[in-house]
Amino acid sequence: MKPTTVCMRIPAFVLFVAVLSVSAAFQPLIPSVASFTASDEQQPFILSPSTQIIVDSTFHASGSPSLESFAQTFRDDLVSITGFTTLSSVQVGSLSASLPSVIFLTLGATNHTYLSGVPTEEGYDFEISSQSYVIKGSGSLGAWWGTRTLLQQVALTAGSPNGISLAAGFGSDTPGWEVRGFMLDAGRHWYQPSFLADLCIYASFFKLQTFHLHASDNLWNQNIIPGPDWRRLYSAFRFRPSPGSPITELAPLLNETWSKDEFLALQNTCSAHGVTIVPEIDTPGHSLAISRWKPELSISGSPDHLNLSHPDTLPTIKAIWDEVLPWITANEVSIGADEYDPALADDYISFVNEMASYISSQTNNTKTIRVWGTNEPSTRLSIDTNVTIQHWDFPGDSIPVQLMSKGYRVINSEQGFLYLDGKTSDDGQFPWELVGDLMWSGAPGGGGWAPNVFSRTDGSNNTEPGNPLLRGAIMAIWNDWGNNATTPLEIYYQLARSFAVFAEKTWAGSGIRSTELSRDQFDSIYDTLNAAAPGQNLNRAVSAQPNNVVFQYVNVTQPITTSFESVGPPYTLTFTVKPSASPKKSQISVPLFDGSSILAPYDGGVIFAGVDSKLHMTQSQTLAFEDTTTHLLYPLPYTFLTDVPTRVEIHATQRYTYALIGGKTYWWTTELDIWGYYMKSANMSFAAPAGVVGGFGFEGELRDVELLVGA
Ligand SMILES: *[C@@H]1O[C@H](CO)[C@@H](O)[C@H](O)[C@H]1NC(C)=O
Ligand SMILES: *[C@@H]1O[C@H](CO)[C@@H](O)[C@H](O)[C@H]1NC(C)=O
Ligand SMILES: *[C@@H]1O[C@H](CO)[C@@H](O)[C@H](O)[C@H]1NC(C)=O
Ligand SMILES: *[C@@H]1O[C@H](CO)[C@@H](O)[C@H](O)[C@H]1NC(C)=O
Ligand SMILES: *[C@@H]1O[C@H](CO)[C@@H](O)[C@H](O)[C@H]1NC(C)=O
Ligand SMILES: *[C@@H]1O[C@H](CO)[C@@H](O)[C@H](O)[C@H]1NC(C)=O
Ligand SMILES: *[C@@H]1O[C@H](CO)[C@@H](O)[C@H](O)[C@H]1NC(C)=O
Ligand SMILES: *[C@@H]1O[C@H](CO)[C@@H](O)[C@H](O)[C@H]1NC(C)=O
Ligand SMILES: *[C@@H]1O[C@H](CO)[C@@H](O)[C@H](O)[C@H]1NC(C)=O
Repeated sequence: MKPTTVCMRIPAFVLFVAVLSVSAAFQPLIPSVASFTASDEQQPFILSPSTQIIVDSTFHASGSPSLESFAQTFRDDLVSITGFTTLSSVQVGSLSASLPSVIFLTLGATNHTYLSGVPTEEGYDFEISSQSYVIKGSGSLGAWWGTRTLLQQVALTAGSPNGISLAAGFGSDTPGWEVRGFMLDAGRHWYQPSFLADLCIYASFFKLQTFHLHASDNLWNQNIIPGPDWRRLYSAFRFRPSPGSPITELAPLLNETWSKDEFLALQNTCSAHGVTIVPEIDTPGHSLAISRWKPELSISGSPDHLNLSHPDTLPTIKAIWDEVLPWITANEVSIGADEYDPALADDYISFVNEMASYISSQTNNTKTIRVWGTNEPSTRLSIDTNVTIQHWDFPGDSIPVQLMSKGYRVINSEQGFLYLDGKTSDDGQFPWELVGDLMWSGAPGGGGWAPNVFSRTDGSNNTEPGNPLLRGAIMAIWNDWGNNATTPLEIYYQLARSFAVFAEKTWAGSGIRSTELSRDQFDSIYDTLNAAAPGQNLNRAVSAQPNNVVFQYVNVTQPITTSFESVGPPYTLTFTVKPSASPKKSQISVPLFDGSSILAPYDGGVIFAGVDSKLHMTQSQTLAFEDTTTHLLYPLPYTFLTDVPTRVEIHATQRYTYALIGGKTYWWTTELDIWGYYMKSANMSFAAPAGVVGGFGFEGELRDVELLVGA
């Protein structure tokens, strides 16, 4: 055990040796800043608890979100990173020479263009002098990215409780591409809106700005799909239809849907952090949720595919979009259109074109559509060029450079670089996180990946970084094995570092700017930036504790509520448990919030509970972790003796959780059905259920409890 734990959320000035008055040079950041010129004659800027944040009164209301609202979020983030809780609130005004230490946010930066040459509001200039740190955006979003730059500098700069010293100079920065995003498969795995919001906030620290939310899908199994039992396969549509809506029956499990209010709040949180949600409703493939509701619309033998020739199919899909379109603020949506039968190419193409014009007309021409690249050879028809095509697959998909030569705008989601699958994949097809070798040197000739790189081997499939039809890139994480493969936090662990490397490559590219990060530079700063990322706590880090002890309790005779909701791995949770042999109940009285109680079936007791997980001592005397998002239980392959105290030591990392009992190791695992080809065991990582110790319904003794953080 190390004396201090780096993963903890603690202000930057505690993490680093205090060096005031020595100005640190401008640090490399993630993503790299396009240019910075130090000003040697100027004294550094001292960021202190008395620094004021001022938003230019000329521009404070400009943009959506406005410059002022971005500034308010920035102020809270700055407090979180510096620990300067007394920092004054944001003011609207002008930059006055008499103020000693001001962060000034304004607009008016010119000459910011993507590599395509198209002007962008995502650029910013910044000027650091002894008195002020001025961020000037080309739009409010550019100024927001400028605040991320400042925060990262602070997180990486030595400071003291009195001040953090930032080198004087002038910088200018612009992203290379217009689309820099991530896709999450929320169709085959249920997620709470709060988790999705946290992902936006985390991604935004690295200047990613598109959250492609795959919101409908189903599990696929070669044995079950063609047979009579296809309804057993998990399928879901996540937007909760409003009462009385014609599509109510599309979402039978309301507990696994987002209400309109929840979705609007999620969109707001993401947009307050510069991130746009682009929702996807995937049809006419991947449509088991629709077939379950209207089986007559499916193609016989392929219930996950809708029959586009059926007269009710298109009206049904339109009715679904009619329900959801008014919820969506993005000016684009994805209609999926993934993996359909090439023999039905004409049906497919007509469908895509019909949906492009329908969605456009239903939104007064304010929304366009994206589709996944799908090779649908037709001699008669072609997809309208105002539909963006998201390439993901060679050779099943159309070739991106050929699409661009026909005038299509393309987003790069090539699976050979950019696909992940929750927990594991068939036969190692996809990695656990984006592969460093591929991202830093996987392009033909050994260069790094960038959105213009589609192929590792054949340079003729790649294009110029500045090709105006190349919009950018979206990395993707799928959930092919459904709810029981992963907890939401395990998905975050796969994405955390992947987002950062992907952010560098989609902001700066590879081999374009002299300031791009080297792999070593990235590796040397990533952990610090991950730990500092404000506005969320997906690491479930806790503030530094003496000797890494989060809590210790000798004899737990009634539930103890701690001040920790959940503690992320690595941790060690040790306790002695003695389940009682008294006859088990079949029912238990469950207290309700209003003071009354109800009788419920008894399924053992909870001995530890937290926001992410619970640990049950089940009726059959095993220890089972519950994932509080899916409510699935994962039992340990060990049966406890009743009336005998057993010492248990639980160890967890981001990759696994195991218990040491009597010198033997037992793992919490899950069984995954790999498309009906074979079953595969996989480890589960659980956050420590640290909110309540000694919980509800457990009969027996619990004592000598200790939770330690750190490896
Ligand atoms: C913008 O770029 C043009 C062309 O490179 C240059 O002539 C002009 O001075 C630049 N303007 C500013 C404000 O930097
Ligand atoms: C699709 O629907 C049409 C019209 O109802 C029907 O004639 C056709 O047989 C269906 N095709 C399949 C493959 O189910
Ligand atoms: C895309 O093109 C089609 C056909 O030209 C047209 O019907 C549709 O309105 C266009 N959509 C947009 C958003 O321009
Ligand atoms: C489209 O524009 C019309 C006329 O301005 C307006 O009545 C209608 O509400 C708008 N519809 C949407 C979806 O914005
Ligand atoms: C690249 O493009 C060619 C055709 O131009 C194609 O045959 C080849 O399969 C493509 N795929 C990859 C991965 O390079
Ligand atoms: C723990 O508390 C229970 C109930 O008060 C008591 O019966 C038991 O002896 C205590 N055990 C220890 C080790 O203190
Ligand atoms: C939602 O309810 C269904 C039916 O009661 C249940 O099977 C499922 O586990 C619940 N899902 C969640 C996330 O609680
Ligand atoms: C997980 O779900 C699959 C179906 O996708 C099922 O076959 C398997 O038994 C489940 N595993 C566990 C541990 O419940
Ligand atoms: C679980 O993780 C351990 C340690 O990495 C590994 O040895 C074991 O094979 C894993 N189990 C499974 C089922 O993957």
